[in-house]
Amino acid sequence: MSQVNPRTNPSPINPGSGQSRRDVLRAAGAATALGATSSLARGASQEGEDVPILKVGLIGCGGRGSGAATNALRADPNVRLVAMGDAFEDQLEKSLTNLKAVEDIKDQIDVPPANRIVGLDCHEKIIDMCDVVLFASTPHFRPAQVEYAVKAGKHMFVEKPVAVDAPGLRRIWQACNDAKDKGIAVVTGLCYRYENKKRATIQKIREGAIGKITAIECSYDTGELWYREPTPEWSEMEHQVRNWLYYTWCSGDHVAEQAIHNLDKMIWAMDDKPPIKVKAQGGRIVRTDPKFGNVFDHFNAVFDFGENVKGFFSCRQWNGAVRDVSDHIYGTKGTAHLMTHKVEGENPWRWRTPEGMNDNMYQNEHDQMFASIRAGKPIHDGDVMCRATLLALMVRMSAYTGQEISWNQALESKEDLTPKSYEWGPNEVPPIAQPGITPFV
Ligand SMILES: NC(=O)c1ccc[n+]([C@@H]2O[C@H](COP(=O)([O-])OP(=O)(O)OC[C@H]3O[C@@H](n4cnc5c(N)ncnc54)[C@H](O)[C@@H]3O)[C@@H](O)[C@H]2O)c1
Repeated sequence: MSQVNPRTNPSPINPGSGQSRRDVLRAAGAATALGATSSLARGASQEGEDVPILKVGLIGCGGRGSGAATNALRADPNVRLVAMGDAFEDQLEKSLTNLKAVEDIKDQIDVPPANRIVGLDCHEKIIDMCDVVLFASTPHFRPAQVEYAVKAGKHMFVEKPVAVDAPGLRRIWQACNDAKDKGIAVVTGLCYRYENKKRATIQKIREGAIGKITAIECSYDTGELWYREPTPEWSEMEHQVRNWLYYTWCSGDHVAEQAIHNLDKMIWAMDDKPPIKVKAQGGRIVRTDPKFGNVFDHFNAVFDFGENVKGFFSCRQWNGAVRDVSDHIYGTKGTAHLMTHKVEGENPWRWRTPEGMNDNMYQNEHDQMFASIRAGKPIHDGDVMCRATLLALMVRMSAYTGQEISWNQALESKEDLTPKSYEWGPNEVPPIAQPGITPFV
């Protein structure tokens, strides 16, 4: 994998251009980086200028996809939602109805029936219809979706995680590298990277406020998420795709689907330097009902970053247990608390939100993505989102097998979770992993 060398090719500290909605409007008349897709209608800026309309397509119309579409439409008055795709018609129609009920964006939505595509392979038609794609489906499908979008030259917002296994990750990482070469915007759903107060706290670490980092402690210890009760008509495959959280082939397990946020903050604090190796434990001791597929309910890990720096990580989905979602970065001169945005020790500091700043990270992502497209300086978060996904896959591989796993081993893993078929029928999944017995592949 010589083309993917994240250990020697770190991304900037802060992805994104730092542009605001005001910058979007100012840049609206500027040349766009839309390439082959620019047979565009025109809209008007607040200054009355004639600006191109950007057509947006949504792939995966669940909770986050609907939220991302709202953010996209609010980011830029000359954005239109023109196409929507989902595995299931009910999900798509529910999302469209809900979006059309939102007063401030409803006039930016025009998704005629012909532009509503249903099926696991809906992405190609959606991508063909738009300039900017929002990827928010079940994670398993992301590598194929993003690969197609890059070939088609479309800008994109990509929810996390970006793959569920190493073959998928290698595929999407290559596509992201191609996107960089082609000047395509790739903005990550690792939303904390777009929160001003997190950026300011990370900046303090960079400036030396806590001295040299000695250890990092990150936790995503929370409760259970949703479960969708099956109907008699559902095939096994439909059950798995609808309850995708609980199937490793769909979600990557909750360490990838949810706790990736903390792993991303850990590597962000480390200036995007990947760890050398990880040793992890995990299992399934509370959420044991077979209806919860084959995922674990807890993971613990210790990362070795070299130079005597360790990263301690925990995530679990247990109701009734202590909840703790936090990140603490310990240094020779103090400690930075990333979730509460403060530094303690020799150089105490605390974030204060400037008057008038609405620091909504979900909105910031889209404001900055559209501004970057309008300005012809597309954001590239490809390395950021692929590295964070690999951290999560490392933890899972180590916990499932009971082995210590290096960064390179994980990246080169041959474990391919693709099902034998995507037909709506039976779909056998591997048994729940057993450390020491389940092999590393
Ligand atoms: N950044 C964040 O804070 C954040 C928060 C929530 C979810 N997410 C991520 O967003 C993604 C979606 O999560 P969600 O909570 O909206 O889940 P969801 O179940 O509400 O939505 C997922 C949708 O994808 C659809 N889908 C499944 N396979 C598809 C395919 N092949 N093509 C098109 N659509 C398909 C499903 O039918 C469903 O409607 C996940 O990757 C999740 O990790 C990110």
